[in-house]
Amino acid sequence: MTPLLQVTDLTKHFPIRSGVFRSAGGVIKAVDGVSFSIDAGQTLGLVGESGCGKSTTGRLLMRLLTATSGSIRLDGQEIAELRRSDLQEYRRRVQMVFQNPSSSLNPRQSVGSAIAAPLLAQRVTPTGGVKARVRDLMDRVGLRPDHYNRFPHEFSGGQKQRVGIARALALDPQLIICDEPVSALDVSVQAQVINLLEDIQRDTGVAYLFVAHDLSVVKHFADRVAVMYLGKIMEYGDSAGVFDAPKHPYTQALLSAVPHPDPAADRSGRIRLSGDLPSPADPPRGCVFQSRCPAYPLLDPQRRQSCTDSVPSGDIACHHTDSAGEALAAAPR
Ligand SMILES: Nc1ncnc2c1ncn2[C@@H]1O[C@H](COP(=O)(O)OP(=O)(O)OP(=O)(O)O)[C@@H](O)[C@H]1O
Ligand code: SF4
Ligand SMILES: [Mg+2]
Repeated sequence: MTPLLQVTDLTKHFPIRSGVFRSAGGVIKAVDGVSFSIDAGQTLGLVGESGCGKSTTGRLLMRLLTATSGSIRLDGQEIAELRRSDLQEYRRRVQMVFQNPSSSLNPRQSVGSAIAAPLLAQRVTPTGGVKARVRDLMDRVGLRPDHYNRFPHEFSGGQKQRVGIARALALDPQLIICDEPVSALDVSVQAQVINLLEDIQRDTGVAYLFVAHDLSVVKHFADRVAVMYLGKIMEYGDSAGVFDAPKHPYTQALLSAVPHPDPAADRSGRIRLSGDLPSPADPPRGCVFQSRCPAYPLLDPQRRQSCTDSVPSGDIACHHTDSAGEALAAAPR
């Protein structure tokens, strides 16, 4: 079966306009050969540290940016080949929810108008009219009818994000790119918004690309997970496999930092990453995680050598999936 979204070897390099790498024609490898797919009605969690390329991936999928190379197919259709008229249809099918609900809403626009905006922009007149559709959407996301004429400053962060979700749902999309939709919210509100997104998925069959920097946020929610580092995917697979038996040293390190429900067990097994995140303008040769990999010093010298060779594409970007993960799991911390 063709997946709803198929991303293959997607790359976005930004030319460097200032600093030492500029004269050398350097580029920032924000997204560097990323592949994944999302089935209809499913959720892919895209996780990684700040600057690893998550938002750039989302913006490429929205066609807010043009890819340097690679392929993005929605229902088998290559989106780079869409003509202007098809692009409008594409924008109906793929919507986005942003990290900061405050800055993504116009302070001078009422909540009702904000939710109606995509319908008006696309000249869509739902049965019963725009107002009725907006009221339905508000009800769907847990906003009250009297919120219709209110303005964003009268709302809490969680309510503003509900407005953002209603707006994204207005055109009945097949896929919503949720770019850290709960990162700016209090922990208790985060769970409410995630529950709402799950309910909506169950009712409508919409698929999500759910971006987060924290694995625990996607743990109970995503069907599949892609762990990103310096523009590349380090580990990709079903959530159960990635969370229960992570194979890449980076995934293991990230998971070891997720707080344990039992405080007594917390942190005892944390794997610390040494060193700073390298620049995406000058990533390490071969395996990009090499400079911070906690498994690297545990490998025998012969094996270590191959860490400087490019890692072939696959679900786990490590030359030593057979031994690195095991060595790390067994190492004293
Ligand atoms: N328009 C741009 N021009 C140049 N560099 C850019 C541009 N947009 C992003 N970058 C760089 O690309 C890299 C990836 O950025 P991106 O915003 O995709 O990361 P992210 O994973 O979303 O990070 P965060 O968790 O902080 O949101 C960063 O080094 C960033 O500085
Ligand atoms: S290839 Fe080597 S450096 Fe890279 S993750 Fe695997 S063990 Fe670590
Ligand atoms: Mg981002």
